This record gives sequence, structure tokens and C-alpha cells, in this order.
Amino acid sequence: MTKKYNVAILGATGAVGTELLALLEERKFPLGKLKLLASERSAGKSIKFAGQDLIIEAVTESSFDDVDIVLASAGGSISQKWLPIATKAGAVAIDNSSAFRMHPDVPLIVPEVNPEAITQHKGIIANPNCTTILMAVAIYPLHQVQPIQRIVAATYQSVSGAGAMAMEEVKLQAQAILNNEPAVAKILPYPLAFNLFPHNSPMTDNSYCEEEMKMVNETRKIFGDQNIRITATCVRVPVLRAHSEALNLEFTQPFSPDKAREILATAAGVKLVEDFSKNYFPMPIEASGKDEVLVGRIRQDISHPNGLELWLCGDQIRKGAALNAVQIAELLITKALI
Ligand code: A2P
Repeated sequence: MTKKYNVAILGATGAVGTELLALLEERKFPLGKLKLLASERSAGKSIKFAGQDLIIEAVTESSFDDVDIVLASAGGSISQKWLPIATKAGAVAIDNSSAFRMHPDVPLIVPEVNPEAITQHKGIIANPNCTTILMAVAIYPLHQVQPIQRIVAATYQSVSGAGAMAMEEVKLQAQAILNNEPAVAKILPYPLAFNLFPHNSPMTDNSYCEEEMKMVNETRKIFGDQNIRITATCVRVPVLRAHSEALNLEFTQPFSPDKAREILATAAGVKLVEDFSKNYFPMPIEASGKDEVLVGRIRQDISHPNGLELWLCGDQIRKGAALNAVQIAELLITKALI
């Protein structure tokens, strides 16, 4: 009989928590007991899973007794508070927040890129930032063939990354604008409908925002390459779901677009989407709900002999968060690390 694992979802009512539940069912995860944890606000309410109503519990000191795997997606401070308690109780925690990502004892994993790092875990495994995961899946297969020395990234990030309430706010803003009424921003810093603005994560000392620095630092850690130079401009756009990225890659030598296409056509987690004759390339509406990162518009950078341009779209709630976390949990099981 296949072994079954008791799983707790910390943040079960959130956007990523909801996707985690869908994925556990869809991927036939070998589930024993499933515990849904959230705040006091949600305690006692129920969520349907595999045809059953499961009651949401408020997280407490004893929530993790008898839990094998915690999938956490309730924010950094909640992870900081509860994951050490969970690991002390014997669980392995896969954390979606940024709280532990850069900690030297915490593996930061994209299963298509650095699955071997999982053997180093000491109870907590970090799931990288969504924009970083999507980029890593698309470019690591090329980096393996010929090292990338520098990445210039521009992102077009959907509002679902800012949470379910921000999505509702953008819909209301769009309605207001169509009715010639003012667009009100309460959750987001500025109106986003029919607008865009540089990413709303906190600013750091070097004038890059935290989201941009996550792409820099996390990519280096995942690739195990501290020398790769990365610069990013992250932008919030009025797309409801799925992020897009324009990437300029500089290799050590020329890298032909056809060779890149050939590699990406069979790369794990990637789907090549391009028809130059129809100007048809990845779009967020087509990436939404999909597991793969859609990549296309691969072309020679006319400004640099070693440069390659590509464009990608990926569902940041799925591969950028929940799916990557479930894949990490599956990796723990297949590598018999739990
Ligand atoms: P709740 O719905 O009870 O507030 P999102 O990232 O989509 O905003 O979701 C955040 C998730 O984190 C939700 O499931 C939310 O539960 C949960 N959460 C927020 N605060 C706490 C807390 N103090 N303890 C446990 N879970 C929390």
C-alpha cells in the first residue's frame, strides 16, 4: 500500500491556499489527513475538498502535531511565527513566503532546476518568488547549455499577485471608469484599471524594489551561480491573472534562436508558443490555469552578438506558487526524504 502523508495548509482560504487544495486533488497526492489552517476569522467555516466539507481551524501551538508536511502561504510573519513550531513537531514545511528564502540552511527550490538541493533541508524548504520561478523554468535549460552572464528583465505582473481583494478592486475600478466615475484605490497604492505602475513592493536602499531584488538574489541562489548579473524592472499591470516577462539574455557566446527553440521545445515545464506569421505569442489569458510557462518570441538581440530576447507568460498562482510547492512535496516523497 502506498504511504500516505498528513498535510496541513497554512493559509488555506487565500488565493494560493485555494490553488493548493485544487492541486492536491488534481495530482492525486498521497494524502492521509488534510488540515486546513487559517486565522480566527475563518475558524469554523468549511471548504469542500474531494466532495467532503472540511472545517477550517485557527492555527495553534498544537496544530502541527501529527502533520508530515505543511504547505504555508499565509505571509512572511505568519511563517516566521509558526514554521519553527511546525518543524519542532516533526513536520517538513514548504514555505511560500519570502521569510526564509535567503537563509543559508533553507533550500530554495524550483524542481525543474535544482531538485538536488532538497537533500540539504533541515525542516524548512522555501518556494521562490513567483516571477523568479517563471523566469528560472524558462531560462535554466539554456543556461545549462551555455552560461548566461547577464539578464535584463522587465515584468508585467498581474493583480492576483497582490491578493484576491486587489483583484476585486481592479474590477470595481474598471466599472467606475466605464461609468465616468473616479477609480478608487484602497488595497493597491494607485488605480490600476486602464493604468500601470512600477511594482508596489517596498523600496530598498539601492532604488530597486524588493520584488526586483528577489529576482536578482533568488535566481543566483537557485542557479547556484553568484556571478550571474541580473537587473529587473517590475511593473504591475491591469491583468487579473498570470505574469509576463520580457527577458534579454546575454550569453558567453552567440546563442542561435533556433537552438534555443529546439532546447525549450522539450524542456520540462515549458511550452513553446510562437507563430511569427500571425504575431501569435504567449498571452496571460492563455497562461492562466496552465501548469507550463509559455515561452516565445525568441529572437537574436540586434544590439549584441551574444544576446537573445524572449518573452514568457506563466500562471504565478499555479507554477509561480502552489504548483511549485506541491512539486516540492512530491519530490520529498520520491526522494524518500520524509
Ligand atoms: P483568513 O482568510 O482567515 O484571513 P491571501 O494571500 O490570499 O491574502 O491569503 C492569506 C491567507 O493567510 C489566508 O488564508 C488567511 O486566512 C491567512 N492568514 C492571515 N492571517 C493569519 C493569521 N494570523 N493566522 C493564520 N492564517 C492567517
